[in-house]
Amino acid sequence: MTKLSMSRRRFLQSTGAAAIWLPTTVKGYTASEIQALYVDGEMQEDVSKWELDTPCLCVDLDLLESNIAAMESTVNQNGIASRPHAKTHKTPVIAQMQLDSGSVGICTAKISEAEAMYQNGIDEILMTTTNVTPTKIRRAMNLRQENPRFVQATDSSQNARLLSEAASAMGITADVVVDVDPGGHRTGITPGAPALELAQLIDSLPSLNLRGLLCYDGGSQHVKGFEERKNQTLERLAGATDTFDLFNQSGLSTEIFSGGGTGTYNIDHETRGLTDVQVGSYVFMDAQYIDIGGETDKDVYSDFAASLTILTTVLNDQYEGRVTTDAGAKACTINRPWARVKGETGMSYTSGSDEFGTLRYEDNASRSYRVGEKLELIVSHCDPVVNLYNQMYAIRNDRVEAVWQIAARGMSA
Ligand SMILES: Cc1ncc(COP(=O)(O)O)c(C=O)c1O
Repeated sequence: MTKLSMSRRRFLQSTGAAAIWLPTTVKGYTASEIQALYVDGEMQEDVSKWELDTPCLCVDLDLLESNIAAMESTVNQNGIASRPHAKTHKTPVIAQMQLDSGSVGICTAKISEAEAMYQNGIDEILMTTTNVTPTKIRRAMNLRQENPRFVQATDSSQNARLLSEAASAMGITADVVVDVDPGGHRTGITPGAPALELAQLIDSLPSLNLRGLLCYDGGSQHVKGFEERKNQTLERLAGATDTFDLFNQSGLSTEIFSGGGTGTYNIDHETRGLTDVQVGSYVFMDAQYIDIGGETDKDVYSDFAASLTILTTVLNDQYEGRVTTDAGAKACTINRPWARVKGETGMSYTSGSDEFGTLRYEDNASRSYRVGEKLELIVSHCDPVVNLYNQMYAIRNDRVEAVWQIAARGMSA
């Protein structure tokens, strides 16, 4: 095992007061070198995260594991389950960790995402988006043919008929859930009678098997303030519970009643009938979620820790009050609020420029950075950031413990 040539502390100390410091003794590893060092699930060398080539995506394993455990503990206590959304991490290893911790399955947003998960050993998949084109319907039914645990959402009678025809052509019976609209009108059918009619149609179609319903209230997830969020989402999910009752009264399956997200995970059990939460962001957290406030901490949503960071290097420190880094829009996205420098105060970061990030110091800046130094950013919004990277470095105590392929990265169709 090669020991680290320089610790982070010495790395930082060695910058001293010099105006420009260029590392000479830190080895540094490219993405492909690190990948080659990860053999049969083990790193062949001891590599510090500070030696990774940047920009790159890191996940802190202790924080990731504690987020997954915290979610399981809360949903279990509340008598429901988690069915985490893989659109957030797109990484089969993380999906497997979630399943191992007790999740009843995973969700996917896109058929290509579902295919990538299945190809990497994950089979309990609920696809939460309706597939409407012949190509995608065919792919969904192909996947169902290979994987009997695949469940597809649908939100119209026309779509249900097309699904049934495609399933018949393949000689299978496909499992489906009805997507119910919580009022945002993004996807889903109107709750109550329209949703019931669709469920009855599904029940009557020869090649479909109704498993229940889903209702994802995206509009409530980032409402600031716990009470405000709670009132809004419970009100908006009331129609889904009415639909759940109608299904039951008509003898239709309500085995699955999925909904909710990271912002409402500890509220959703109060929606009667709901079986599981489709939580996504909780594994990583991000600046968008940190700002919404929690039940105990009104200002900061501290239920889960920010495990996902982007590592970036300072490229220029020659100008007063600012430095330029190598993580711009292509590494961080231009989502707002902007990414934040982990562990620092009195600094703001922007990534509006394609290739460059700008770190500005305020009067109370905790420190300043020099050329060649690296810093860590808490991401603005985790899902689109993950989609920018091929691999993610799993870090424990600042050491690279694993290199995870983001197998569904770019799977947006
Ligand atoms: C249908 C659906 N379910 C669940 C989620 C997960 O939400 P969150 O990341 O807020 O937990 C999303 C996110 O957009 C979604 O679109």
